[in-house]
Amino acid sequence: MTQEKVPIAVFVSGRGRTLRNLQTSIDAGALPAKIVLVVGSRACPATSWAVEHGIATEIAPRMSGAEVEQLIQAHGVAWIVLAGYLKRLAIPVSMHGRVVNIHPGLLPKFGGRGMYGDRVHQAVIEAGETESGCTVHLVDDVYDHGEIIEQARCEVMADDTTEALAARVFALECELYPRVLAELFLQATAQ
Ligand code: GRF
Repeated sequence: MTQEKVPIAVFVSGRGRTLRNLQTSIDAGALPAKIVLVVGSRACPATSWAVEHGIATEIAPRMSGAEVEQLIQAHGVAWIVLAGYLKRLAIPVSMHGRVVNIHPGLLPKFGGRGMYGDRVHQAVIEAGETESGCTVHLVDDVYDHGEIIEQARCEVMADDTTEALAARVFALECELYPRVLAELFLQATAQ
């Protein structure tokens, strides 16, 4: 039996590597989803990519819960997937438990407001950690706070640069995020 494709909205703010990785997983048949909407907190390479690929795209620096609700209703969105989205999202009640994020560190450490991208890797190196990784978690109203679903881990080398660590963690993200999303969607349809 082929699994139904879950309509998702992907929220972005930056380069769009995570967005493109999700599409690659979808195209490979590993993630039973369809990106029906991309929302950017600003115009950025991720939103340009979405427009070029014919995906409905909205740029919205600030949105109330009611506006998010209206947008996802209009596009028939079942899950919201954050992919490098740098704003706090007002989550409508109807979407509680169906908003997911990936963080480039091992939460609950190295999370919170202002902790994103290379800032996380820099902090991990400065703290002398020997291990880092990434975390897929549900999103609630506090930055990097919702229930942790799964983590992937890698070593931090003694002579690591921020760049080298970022690349190692991002490679983990590319495997972890689509796999965990596929599992979540499967569980949700089985319920
Ligand atoms: C990733 O490091 C991810 O952990 C975080 O945003 C970064 C990806 O940004 N949430 P982008 O996909 O390159 O815009």
